[in-house]
Amino acid sequence: MRPIQITDTTLRDGHQSLWATRMETSDMVPILPKMDKVGYWAMEAWGGATFDTCLRFLDENPWERLRTIKKHAPNTPLKMLTRGQNLVGYKHYSDEIVHRFTAASYRNGLEVFRVFDALNDIRNVKSSAEAILEAGGHFQGTISYTISPVHTIDSFVEYAQQLKELGAHSICCKDMAGMMTPYVTEELVTKLKKEVGLPVQLHCHYIGGMAPMNYLKGIEAGADTIDTAVVALAFGNSQPAGETLVAALRDTQYDTGLDFDKLIEIAEYWEGVRTAKGYKRGTTSLLSLEVYSHQVPGGMMSNLVSQLEIQNASERLPEVLKEIPKVRAEVGYPPLVTPMSQIVGTQSVLNVLTGKRWSIVPQEMRDYVLGYYGLPPAPINEDVLAKVIKDSGKEPLDPSIAPGSLVTTTYAEVEEEIGDLAKSEEDVLMYALFPNEARAYLERHHGDVEDKIFMTGDEANVDREDEETMDVRHIETLIKALDSSGVAEVVISEGDSQVALRKANAPGTAPAVPAAAPVAVPAPTVAPAPVVEAAPAPVTEVAADERPANWIAVTAPMVGTFYDKPSPESAPFVAVGDTVKAGDAVCILEAMKLMSEITVEEDSVVREILCESGDALGFGDVIMYVEPA
Ligand code: CO
Repeated sequence: MRPIQITDTTLRDGHQSLWATRMETSDMVPILPKMDKVGYWAMEAWGGATFDTCLRFLDENPWERLRTIKKHAPNTPLKMLTRGQNLVGYKHYSDEIVHRFTAASYRNGLEVFRVFDALNDIRNVKSSAEAILEAGGHFQGTISYTISPVHTIDSFVEYAQQLKELGAHSICCKDMAGMMTPYVTEELVTKLKKEVGLPVQLHCHYIGGMAPMNYLKGIEAGADTIDTAVVALAFGNSQPAGETLVAALRDTQYDTGLDFDKLIEIAEYWEGVRTAKGYKRGTTSLLSLEVYSHQVPGGMMSNLVSQLEIQNASERLPEVLKEIPKVRAEVGYPPLVTPMSQIVGTQSVLNVLTGKRWSIVPQEMRDYVLGYYGLPPAPINEDVLAKVIKDSGKEPLDPSIAPGSLVTTTYAEVEEEIGDLAKSEEDVLMYALFPNEARAYLERHHGDVEDKIFMTGDEANVDREDEETMDVRHIETLIKALDSSGVAEVVISEGDSQVALRKANAPGTAPAVPAAAPVAVPAPTVAPAPVVEAAPAPVTEVAADERPANWIAVTAPMVGTFYDKPSPESAPFVAVGDTVKAGDAVCILEAMKLMSEITVEEDSVVREILCESGDALGFGDVIMYVEPA
């Protein structure tokens, strides 16, 4: 017998893949005790996009979510997904922040840390690994699986070996785009087991439907653990259904031993939540299957479609799909996972829309090309590299310098910045990762008593708002008392801590959640949007018929917002009368969540500027006129 272990991903990847990460803690609490009794190897319940979605859209404290899950599911190890040096954010954080965040995650209830880097660059994982081992957690080193001429089975095994050297307890093969195939899985798992010797976990997204076959071949080859979701949050962009795998392996040497009837009861609960909230179930479409032809992951595809819609250029999708593999090859075949999927996708859209490949290179792509995200899997195309070096005036980062080591923000600096608003280390860390969102959250809840979700059977003393004190033994009694009291909120003291219990449907109970909101794909390391300031660039107006014939219009290559300077503190790029050299930036266009510099094609003199910072521009709108020098 070699029982297969199951990690349930419903509480993290399931809703991140299908519900735009909008599952609320109150959705989870009623079913957690039952899920806790299943005997999962772990429940993936935190990390990934859940942290910032809690702050941004759900008005929830992510740390409180973690503590609540742990409280109601104390027996099952909780797992999180982290992006190494990027933690649960979209840029590198300093080693100190990585260490403190990891220690705090462990302290608040996490045990298993699945760490991946989009580029499989071991330097971006090192600090996380040290912090996890120091805290006493399980370090699951992760391979970001992709297909390219430089990504071979041996290259993945070699990376797994590096993860082992950092102290990994297990290895995860992460197939975020659903591109793994059964016989590749078999070969990869066989080699990992033989050459690396650590437990192997498979994380496949269903998408085109290969995942259950991959799991079966992987299990036969020695995989120890597989990731599945409850059927209501399975299939499509999510994981395969746990119920399917448990049934498939029953009465074999791989029998999971999980109680199928219990799984069905849990599935019924989630199906109820799904229908009540109006979310679609995971499905496989023609688009999902096309991934085997163009290799553009599903999540990235929906992003491209919406970018092109905004640009009024939906009909150009086929060109963009042809452009993506070209761009990806030119920049060394990065796996198309966050943030590389956005960076490569946007560059491809720009290349198609401008009609001149690489004429506009957003800051994020420049940083990637110069090595600031990590080492590209293969060398960058020489022409692209030369152009980026020339445009940015920067040399590539010395490979002996880890990109994360360039970030030196200390905890003390962040703590001072947020000041009294933060009441705990967790609050400070929240601010370190998402300054704007965390500040807004902390301001909204400043002086609040702690929000807490109670379960039937919890005991509490109740301090009613009208100051009568009630002794309430059980939660049903409490809810009845609340219903009959006519007050919207009661404050409960439990030991030293005070918590607020709000009556359902009372104002402020549930933050409005946009139903079926678009998937939030936060822009990677976007420079802060320049603020429109009082003194705009001088604008001279010349009547159209008075413009000399040799003036050249600089136009917006796409729909976006015009800025005359790179940041609020800097001087404008140009003023009327300035001389500019070919390739010089004259303004910024913010489009598709990225800041792109617009350049002039030949040495010229700026003759007329038609826009002011903050102006919304359409495709082809004239920004300024220049006269060739
Ligand atoms: Co996933």
